[in-house]
Amino acid sequence: MKVLITGANGLLGQHMIKLLLDRNYEVVATSRGESRLPFQPSANYTYREMDITNSLETFAVMSNEKPDIVVHAAAMTQVDDCELRPQHCERINVQGTSQVLTDAETFSSHFIYISTDFVFDGEQGNYAEEDDTKPISLYGFTKLQAESMVQTSTIPFAIVRTCLVYGNLLQGTRSNIVSWVRENLEQGKTIKVVSDQLRTPTYVEDLAKGILLIIEKKATGIYHISGKDWLTPYDIALKTAAKFNLDAGKIVKVDAATFKQPGRRPLKTGFIIEKARKELGFEPMSFDEGLELM
Ligand SMILES: NC(=O)c1ccc[n+]([C@@H]2O[C@H](COP(=O)([O-])OP(=O)(O)OC[C@H]3O[C@@H](n4cnc5c(N)ncnc54)[C@H](OP(=O)(O)O)[C@@H]3O)[C@@H](O)[C@H]2O)c1
Repeated sequence: MKVLITGANGLLGQHMIKLLLDRNYEVVATSRGESRLPFQPSANYTYREMDITNSLETFAVMSNEKPDIVVHAAAMTQVDDCELRPQHCERINVQGTSQVLTDAETFSSHFIYISTDFVFDGEQGNYAEEDDTKPISLYGFTKLQAESMVQTSTIPFAIVRTCLVYGNLLQGTRSNIVSWVRENLEQGKTIKVVSDQLRTPTYVEDLAKGILLIIEKKATGIYHISGKDWLTPYDIALKTAAKFNLDAGKIVKVDAATFKQPGRRPLKTGFIIEKARKELGFEPMSFDEGLELM
């Protein structure tokens, strides 16, 4: 079974590839620019440069590789950047997805799109798959537009919505909430952390395992795949400080309204993951267990 991953250099991409190789899948890793992955080419692993905004390059790779399954993780993921560079964001998150999807319809048999809790407005929190979407940022809006395209495609699809992913990259650096707290406290800096947002933070290996279950079961439809603990960023910061023996006194509790950021964040998200538990057998670790693994 051949699986092609877009955005392979990213946090999820790296861990997804590792898990698939561990399970003896044939893997085609694709991303923008050179590989930043710690794997060497082999009989069942190859890296191909593929900028999803370049339709010729995307078609060339997809027609050449003809993957059975596509895991589409590539995206412009920085919420503020999306707001500041709207055309760029739309080009990657919407047009890029359209290109990968069109090629997958021709060459593949299962399309898995990675989406986000930011498709919700954050008023209600504790979201199930069928709850009404209403993004409040351009990032969320473009991810929802991509979801709509996937839902009207001709290929069997799964949409995986996830929430506040944390974990270490296998190679390279990319900030996430835990690494950001840790780095700042290690440098003795004071940090302001929001205490009125709610999330179900997701350990990156759990997300990869959830997607693997979807691949194995050829599951279709929308799935919420996240951690199981409801935490505020402030709770996360306190737990991170405790785990790494850092000074929690440097963590200042603030309201989200304190920050004037270009992109609005939904206040309360977090997922009900019963569907993934029941239909896929998905069971995430606790946030404390995820921290321990970092
Ligand atoms: N991280 C989270 O908290 C979170 C939460 C909810 C949903 N998600 C979704 O989960 C997916 C994976 O996220 P992640 O955390 O792994 O993000 P990430 O670390 O930012 O990875 C995204 C990858 O996509 C690549 N990319 C961007 N533009 C591209 C293009 N035009 N062509 C090809 N590749 C391109 C990036 O390349 P460069 O490395 O060169 O920039 C990066 O490697 C995304 O779809 C995201 O929307 C993430």
